[in-house]
Amino acid sequence: MSANQNWGIRLGEMTDFDDILALERLCFTGDRLSSRSLRRLLKSPTAKFFIATKLPERLAGGCALLLSRRDSSRFRIYSLAVSPAFRGIGLGALLLGAAEAAARSNGGRSIGFEARRGNGAAIALYEKAGYLAVGERPDYYEDGAAAILYRKEL
Ligand SMILES: CC(C)(COP(=O)(O)OP(=O)(O)OC[C@H]1O[C@@H](n2cnc3c(N)ncnc32)[C@H](O)[C@@H]1OP(=O)(O)O)[C@@H](O)C(=O)NCCC(=O)NCCS
Repeated sequence: MSANQNWGIRLGEMTDFDDILALERLCFTGDRLSSRSLRRLLKSPTAKFFIATKLPERLAGGCALLLSRRDSSRFRIYSLAVSPAFRGIGLGALLLGAAEAAARSNGGRSIGFEARRGNGAAIALYEKAGYLAVGERPDYYEDGAAAILYRKEL
């Protein structure tokens, strides 16, 4: 099944603060964005939030956070979260595509992402989208789990 035409992607802003925080809580048990970090990121010129929105009620079903660094063509997806109620209909792929398109149009040459070892859904999504595992960071998460580094050349 793929995301139907009622879903669109828009850029997140401060008015999305509560929805983004709620998605983080629904989707992650640890290593969540704190409300303080979220507020800072929403104001940052090097962070872009993408929100999968269902129309007409403007319901937020998922969110991706793309980070850039000044003077670098390497972008990073810091977070990707789809509400459990809307998984499996293509929103993750839609959000990933939007983040990649934004990175490309801002001069990005590659995009990277850390996936928790054993996170089958995220790993399947990234590999299907053409990301390659390029390394590993042991003891990366709060609970000591390792991260696998994925990268895609744009
Ligand atoms: C990972 C996540 C974002 C996927 O979102 P989603 O909207 O359900 O994904 P999509 O429907 O776009 O799926 C796209 C592809 O990813 C793969 N995929 C997604 N979920 C999968 C699962 N549970 N098992 C296996 N493959 C999966 C499939 O290849 C799928 O393509 P297909 O449907 O044509 O087979 C979602 O499961 C999630 O929010 N998980 C919790 C948070 C998280 O782990 N985020 C990533 C790390 S920050």
